[in-house]
Amino acid sequence: MSTNSTRAPFPGHPGAARRVSDKLPVFPWDKLEPYKATALAHPGGLCDFSVGTPVDPVPEVIQKALAAHTDTPGYPTVWGPLELREAIAGWLHRRLGAETGPQAVLPTVGSKELVAWLPTQLGLGPGDQVAYPRLAYPTYEVGARLCGAEPVEYDSVDELDGSRVRLLWVNSPSNPTGRVLGADELRRAVEWAREHGALLVSDECYLELGWEAEPVSVLHPDVCGDGHEGLLAVHSLSKRSNLAGYRASFVAGDPVVVRELLEVRKHGGMIVPAPVQAATVAALADDAHVAEQRERYAARRSALRAALEAYGFRIEHSEASLYLWATQDRPCWETVAELAGLGILVAPGDFYGPAGDRFVRVAFTATDERVAAAVERLGAAS
Ligand SMILES: Cc1ncc(COP(=O)(O)O)c(C=O)c1O
Repeated sequence: MSTNSTRAPFPGHPGAARRVSDKLPVFPWDKLEPYKATALAHPGGLCDFSVGTPVDPVPEVIQKALAAHTDTPGYPTVWGPLELREAIAGWLHRRLGAETGPQAVLPTVGSKELVAWLPTQLGLGPGDQVAYPRLAYPTYEVGARLCGAEPVEYDSVDELDGSRVRLLWVNSPSNPTGRVLGADELRRAVEWAREHGALLVSDECYLELGWEAEPVSVLHPDVCGDGHEGLLAVHSLSKRSNLAGYRASFVAGDPVVVRELLEVRKHGGMIVPAPVQAATVAALADDAHVAEQRERYAARRSALRAALEAYGFRIEHSEASLYLWATQDRPCWETVAELAGLGILVAPGDFYGPAGDRFVRVAFTATDERVAAAVERLGAAS
């Protein structure tokens, strides 16, 4: 059988027209691999403060809820049972002071997928702009690129083009800087977005992890007034409940936008598994495990912060979230290499935008034992 040498490449093969990965940045974590290899070779083993993945056990109350719902042969729904949506709305009211209701919330399959696909699911495309903070979680840019919109970084909303920005991301507490926006700064963003008809989406994954500041939700009436028109808040249980492995998260806010997302996501089959839906209900009903986990993180944070400062780092912002935003006032990759030599792996600040190129992000999500090992190594090298 002869093959046709002029045949176009199969979709997905190199050279195929409109290959999606060609529009996306290099997956940043791949660039860290050689430094990880160096750090792994340290005789005392790797102290990994790079990705920020939880390492402590899933709280028992959540494990039990999951285990009690393993016999679920039927399809779950995208919107989830009323019990789940009431649990989400109840938590939003109790912890955030936000008045919503089960009609204004939607479970998501981890918030990363929502961040990446939201512009596509809202019909954005070429000619539209998606704006996000100059130093930011890289998936905001990815989401813009996936739908063909233009990604735009901002320091202040006042520098944006109101006729082109259709979706405005804010992220407080911030990944990577740990910075918290005050109610007045959030209010200004809400005003700007409403004035220009842009949807404001507030990524609030770290809201329960404030250390030296009290983060406030965009859905709080002090920020948004009486209603949630034109606003969404994105929440995740990955960090506050050690549930990154479950993919448990949700979005809440303007009920009209939530309804539209529900319609699109029903067609797309973006369903949270039924056992995870049940685990989410249990997790949102329990504040004790969140307080316990916060104590673990607080201790790791202060030990690492003191050791980094004694070593010669300056820490900026970092008043909330799971990160220390640290600099030696030199290129970030030099710092990454130096720390890798001590068996300590951190994320270079330029993963979060060129403005971060003299910082590293230190995630205090390692075990107490690994944090103590790093503190000792930094102390010995100081
Ligand atoms: C700012 C921000 N948003 C969203 C996510 C995604 O979280 P998940 O997909 O685990 O819910 C992360 C994860 O690190 C994050 O830092």
